[in-house]
Amino acid sequence: MSTNITFHPGSVDAQERVDLLKQKGVTIWLTGLSASGKSTIACALEQHLLHLHKFAYRLDGDNVRLGLNKDLGFDEKSRVENIRRIGEVSKLFADSACIAITAFISPYIADRQVARTLHEQSGLGFIEVFVDAPLSVVEQRDPKGLYKAARAGEIKNFTGISAPYEPPENPELHIRTDECDVAQAVEIIIEYLTKHDYIS
Ligand code: PPS
Repeated sequence: MSTNITFHPGSVDAQERVDLLKQKGVTIWLTGLSASGKSTIACALEQHLLHLHKFAYRLDGDNVRLGLNKDLGFDEKSRVENIRRIGEVSKLFADSACIAITAFISPYIADRQVARTLHEQSGLGFIEVFVDAPLSVVEQRDPKGLYKAARAGEIKNFTGISAPYEPPENPELHIRTDECDVAQAVEIIIEYLTKHDYIS
């Protein structure tokens, strides 16, 4: 536990940063089951935004667990800590005027709410996107063979099989990936960003 810590403000405030960089930071928080399409949408969205010359950066569950969060597993406590850290990291990215795109299962409503509150307390936007596909569909996709292994009991605490997933109750966007393709999903998010003045 850190003690005797004082926040040190910079010489440029949030609004001046936005004005200078001509970009408002925000976090686009993708949540959904494994193989629901989070990473695929995140990659395509990042590419689309960069091609519009927007500062965008993707934080992805598998990738972050190879580095920053390599000390964490998939028990409830580890997932809570995983999402706590990503909430903090994405807030820093959004604060830097970046469009942060996070792609984590983030199975618990309470943890996603913590991330949202953290952003909102700093005046930063938080767009929760439910990347939704039925379990039967994601299990059919099973690109990494993880559902098969989980059903066989070879992977414990597997989301949707032996660990919970709490769907968002009131997400900003709800994308059914069994009903639309990646390009349509990106379009839905771009439309939202445009409508809410994050990009023009
Ligand atoms: S969480 O729940 O938000 O902490 O998970 P996340 O950091 O997004 O990591 C999910 C990816 O880890 C792989 N994996 C598992 N997922 C769920 N449950 C278990 N037990 C598990 N073990 C490994 C899996 O590849 C997930 O990637 P995605 O892209 O979601 O399929």
